[in-house]
Amino acid sequence: MKKHSHYIPAFHFHWLTRWYDPMMRLFFHEERVKTALIAQAHVQPGQNVLDVGCGTGTLAMLIKQTQPNVTVYGLDVDPQVLDIARSKAEQAGESIVLQQGRATCLPYPNGCFDHVFASLVLHHLTRQDKQQMLREVFRILKPGGELHVADFSRPHDPGMWLISLIVRWFEEVHDHILGLLPVFMTDIGFNPVEETTCYRTLLGTVASYRAGKPIN
Ligand SMILES: C[S@@+](CC[C@H](N)C(=O)[O-])C[C@H]1O[C@@H](n2cnc3c(N)ncnc32)[C@H](O)[C@@H]1O
Repeated sequence: MKKHSHYIPAFHFHWLTRWYDPMMRLFFHEERVKTALIAQAHVQPGQNVLDVGCGTGTLAMLIKQTQPNVTVYGLDVDPQVLDIARSKAEQAGESIVLQQGRATCLPYPNGCFDHVFASLVLHHLTRQDKQQMLREVFRILKPGGELHVADFSRPHDPGMWLISLIVRWFEEVHDHILGLLPVFMTDIGFNPVEETTCYRTLLGTVASYRAGKPIN
């Protein structure tokens, strides 16, 4: 497995970051996947919501538009992508609390979020960092709170398996292809953990998961 001392930017290379939004719209069912992820969360007015690895802020803004009476936080390690998120939020007049930080060391107190979203960020992290991020998410969720993940998953047909061979060269998808994400979540204490949807995309099979932090 590759080791990254720094981080993998949104589209792997910094120079591609400015093209991230148009490429996501073209090659990935972005709106469909993100809308369904929000729908599975049933976010209620007054709740605190975090989007980890928020990138250009598309999901954070969709959450705010779906449920305006929530406080939405967006965290990303990359200042360049956060600048894009900030200007998009400003243009749309949405108030999102955007912050730079690492998914493996979340700058929030224990038990303060009702929902945490993680869209396409886990495949940017090494196995150790995936597990550390999930531990951090578990820590900052309230008892009864939920994690909602959309990310690469076990290929569900030979075509998707072939595409996964290419993506494997670039990003940390090996554990995803082995179907280990729900295993990592369960090991950390999330219960229940369920796969909610599975998508065929031009970049490979993407699945959504819901993982609950038990009340006791
Ligand atoms: C593929 S993009 C996904 C962006 C957004 N969540 C979406 O669904 O469009 C992955 C994002 O994860 C961020 N990222 C990578 N490593 C990170 C880390 N260690 N901590 C926080 N964010 C990270 C990247 O900067 C990038 O914006």
